[in-house]
Amino acid sequence: MTKRRVVILLGPPGAGKGTQASRLSAALSLPHVSTGDLFRENKAQGTALGKQAQEYMDAGKLVPDELVLDMLFDRIAHADCAGGCLLDGFPRTLPQAEALALRLSGVEVHALNLRVPDAALVERLTGRRTCGACGNIHHVRYSPPKQEGSCDKCGGALVVRSDDRLETVTRRLAVYREQTLPLEGWYRQRGVLSEVDGDRAADLVFSDLVRAATAVGAA
Ligand code: AP5
Ligand code: MG
Repeated sequence: MTKRRVVILLGPPGAGKGTQASRLSAALSLPHVSTGDLFRENKAQGTALGKQAQEYMDAGKLVPDELVLDMLFDRIAHADCAGGCLLDGFPRTLPQAEALALRLSGVEVHALNLRVPDAALVERLTGRRTCGACGNIHHVRYSPPKQEGSCDKCGGALVVRSDDRLETVTRRLAVYREQTLPLEGWYRQRGVLSEVDGDRAADLVFSDLVRAATAVGAA
């Protein structure tokens, strides 16, 4: 039986976690689990969880740990995660990292940290266009769609995420520094952190992520 393996994509808002995760998930044969996407799905379906999460997300704040943990643990209990998963946007606080470590005791965990300077993050987020139908990610300058306003994958309408306005982006970056940055040290201390320079073309970043994930996976 294959050993269960969990790969965590760490990094600030706009670092490229979602962009890389869709390719990395296929390369590592691990399902992509994004807590941000799960909240947006709940929001679109009008669930109570979606409504609760929306006010935090629109304000650029983190959703409270208890709401995130229940949703995430439900998701990774599904059969497709029996061999592991690729986590994007989780954990984001020390209590979330501790709860995950308890839940995954005995599972091989590896965190890949995408580093990108703040100025690039702001440009990436304010220029991001997301497909309202399939979630595919474009950028007006770095990954423009072939036809303006339409997703290259499914033809759905591209929209600006409600938390990608400049003032909300600034707040999200501050929240990241306060609450999520300490996770780098947490995973480094445990010897399972790899640093990847995310401030380069997406293909180069992808190659490094695969190399880092494979090197540890093979160890
Ligand atoms: P979430 O959806 O996870 O947002 P985030 O972490 O703020 O990250 P983003 O999705 O904004 O950025 P990304 O790193 O995925 O970058 P992307 O690939 O899109 O969370 C949203 C909200 O949900 C949170 O604010 C919070 O409220 C809540 N939430 C979620 N998880 C939570 C948790 N665990 N605890 C509490 N609350 C939680 O790329 C960005 C842009 O850059 C795109 O346009 C892309 O085309 C472009 N780009 C990507 N790579 C490159 C490159 N190499 N060069 C140039 N451009 C690039
Ligand atoms: Mg994302």
